[in-house]
Amino acid sequence: MPNHILLGIEIMQRGEQLYSGKAKTVYTTSDPGKLILLFRNDTSAFDGEKTAQLDRKGMVNNKFNAFVMQKLEQAGVRTHFESLRSDSESVVKRLEMLPIECVVRNIAAGSICKRYGVEEGIDLNPPTFEFFLKDDARHDPMINDYHIRSFGWATEHEVEEMKEKTFRVNDVLTQLFASGDMILVDFKLEYGRYQGELLLGDEFTPDGCRIWDKATREKLDKDRFRRDLGGVVEAYEQVAARLGVPLD
Ligand code: TMP
Ligand code: ASP
Repeated sequence: MPNHILLGIEIMQRGEQLYSGKAKTVYTTSDPGKLILLFRNDTSAFDGEKTAQLDRKGMVNNKFNAFVMQKLEQAGVRTHFESLRSDSESVVKRLEMLPIECVVRNIAAGSICKRYGVEEGIDLNPPTFEFFLKDDARHDPMINDYHIRSFGWATEHEVEEMKEKTFRVNDVLTQLFASGDMILVDFKLEYGRYQGELLLGDEFTPDGCRIWDKATREKLDKDRFRRDLGGVVEAYEQVAARLGVPLD
């Protein structure tokens, strides 16, 4: 028996570095269909213009993401998530990622306020949906269904699936955050192809969404870093604690 199989539990071996993004590094494994995601302490905003290292962030986000992915799977949303490998690493399925970011907004905040001159905090009823091209050098420009199809970034069917799945995630997670007296303001998701199916890829952490306290509307997400409000990881830990995410 190979020595990495102990007591019937296979410990996935980390192979070469495939890709290093702004907050995570992706490694190959001995299984060509699986990858290891390393959540680093690096944080960035404004398409990588502002960066910092925040203690514990990699561990908190890794465990937070695992918790949310499992909740989504339980609700019938298929994701790339397989298992936690260590404090800051997870094993995921290897997807062919689409270069598209899907954003659902329940409340106006961030770029939509600047773009349309609307006040932060107004309810969006119904929640709104936007596609962005994943391209930091071009500041992730907003794109529409026709751009996606004309440029061949995804098929018409995938466009519809991305909308449907992202709204389904919104329903599941709005309730989850409400159970911890929090408001899910908005979030970004990415998808990838896997054996003929579209699966949720990437991560779901306070780095890629906005979460407010329900009573005070205090920001508990990466806006604390973007706006120099301090207590970034402490806020992420507070969100985790309210949802019952086991961190230690
Ligand atoms: P925005 O207000 O900057 O357009 O972002 C909307 C939400 O999506 C917010 O929670 C942050 C998240 N997001 C990312 O995490 N990465 C991105 O590249 C983009 C465009 C948005
Ligand atoms: N555009 C996103 C943000 O401002 C992601 C990033 O730039 O790192 O958070």
